Amino acid sequence: MYTPLTAGTVADYVRNSPVADHIFKQNDELTVVDLSEGGNVNLIFRVHSTEDANRSVLVKQALPYARRYPDGMMPLERARIEHDLLALEEKYCPGLTPKVFHYDSVMHVNLMEDLNQHLNMRIGLSRGIVYPKFGQDVGRFLAHTLFYTSDIYLPSAEKKAMVMRFINPVMCKVTEHLFFNEPCKPHPNNRWTTPQLDEQVKAIYANRALHGEMLIMKEKFMTQAQALVHGDFHTGSVLLNPEDTRFIDPEFAFYGPIAFDVGSMLGNLIIGHAAQEAYQPDPDKRAAYRSWIIETIGTIWTTFDSEFRRLWAKDGDKEEWKSPHFQDHYMAELFTDTLGYAAAEIFRRTIGMAWVDDFTGIDNPNERAKSEALALKTAETWLLNRREIKTIQQALTIVSNTPI
Ligand SMILES: Nc1ncnc2c1ncn2[C@@H]1O[C@H](COP(=O)(O)OP(=O)(O)OP(=O)(O)O)[C@@H](O)[C@H]1O
Ligand SMILES: [Mg+2]
Repeated sequence: MYTPLTAGTVADYVRNSPVADHIFKQNDELTVVDLSEGGNVNLIFRVHSTEDANRSVLVKQALPYARRYPDGMMPLERARIEHDLLALEEKYCPGLTPKVFHYDSVMHVNLMEDLNQHLNMRIGLSRGIVYPKFGQDVGRFLAHTLFYTSDIYLPSAEKKAMVMRFINPVMCKVTEHLFFNEPCKPHPNNRWTTPQLDEQVKAIYANRALHGEMLIMKEKFMTQAQALVHGDFHTGSVLLNPEDTRFIDPEFAFYGPIAFDVGSMLGNLIIGHAAQEAYQPDPDKRAAYRSWIIETIGTIWTTFDSEFRRLWAKDGDKEEWKSPHFQDHYMAELFTDTLGYAAAEIFRRTIGMAWVDDFTGIDNPNERAKSEALALKTAETWLLNRREIKTIQQALTIVSNTPI
C-alpha cells in the first residue's frame, strides 16, 4: 500500500528493499538525512551507514501533490516517468545521470545513487566555481538523449509508442501555465523585487508583441512531439563537481520540442551570469567568471549542434531523412526556438512564480533587482529578435553588450 515515507520509517524501508544487501553491511546502523527542502516537489532522503557515509542511497518518493504547494495535485506516476527516463538517458549517454538501483511501483519510490560528492550547480555558480567539462557534457547529453528519441532515429511506430509511454499531461499543464501564461501579464502568482522592477514589469505587461511571441512558444511546446525531452533541464537539475557532471530530476519528461531543454539550460545560465552582479564584488573576478559562463553557453550550443549532426550522419535513417537542406533548416529552427524558450525560462524565474536561489540568495534588494533587470533585458531581446539572430556568437554578444 502507498504511504508517504518519513525520517522515522525510511531506514526500515531501505533495509527491507532489494538494494540493501548490495549497499550496506549486515550490521550497519543507518542514519537518515532529510533532503526534501532542497527541492519543491517530492520527499527526498539520504540513508547512509553511520559508520561510513559513503555506503549510502538516495530515496526519492513522489507525493500525490507538490510538497511545497500542497494544493497543486500531481500524479504519483511521475516517479515511473523519472525512473524510465533516467534508464534511457543512461543507455544513450552513459555516466551523466545518477544510477537508479530500484523502482518501487507501489510506493512510487526511486532508490538511486547518492551523489554526495557533488554540488547543486546553482550553488556552484553563486560561489564562482569553474566547471571545465560542464559545457561539453551538456551539449553531448542533449544531443544523444534527444537525437536517439527523435523521428530522425526511431522508426515511426516505435516513436509513437514512446509518445504514449511518456504522456505526462498534468506535469505539462504546470509548465504551460508557469512558463507561458502567467509571468508576462498580471497574475496573482506573479511576484518581483518591488519597487525596483515595477517599471520594467509594467513595460513587459504592456508589450503585446511579447505576449504573442510567448504564445507561439507555448503552442509549439504543446504540439511539437519532436523528442523525449527532460522537461525541467535547468542548473538546479545538475549535481556536479569539476570532474563529474550528473543530470537529475526528469519527472517532467514528455515528447516535446528539443529546443525546450536546450533553451531552459541557456536561460538559467543567463540568470547565473546576471546574478554575478551581486555574488562577485571584485570587478576583475566578476568579468572573468562571466566570460567563463558566456564561453560555456557557446560550448553547449556548438557541441550540441555538431554532435546532433554527427549522430544524424552515423545513425539517422539515411534514406528517409537524407537532405542537407532539411538538416540545416531543422538545426536553424532549433536555434531560433532555443532563444525563445530561454527567454520564457528567464521570465518565469524572475517575475513569475518559480523564483530561483540565484536571485533570492541576494539579500540587498537593489543588487537583486539590478541582476534581475539584466536577465530580463536579455530575455526580451532574445525573444523578440530571435529570428534575426543567426549564430550563438551573435546571441552572446547581445548579453555581453547589455548595459547594466
Ligand atoms: N541522486 C542524488 N544524490 C544526491 N543528492 C540528491 C540526488 N537527487 C536529489 N538530491 C538532492 O535533493 C535536491 C532536490 O532534488 P530534486 O530536484 O530531484 O527534487 P524535486 O523534489 O524533484 O524538486 P524540484 O522539482 O523542485 O527541483 C537536489 O538539489 C539535491 O540536493
Ligand atoms: Mg523535480
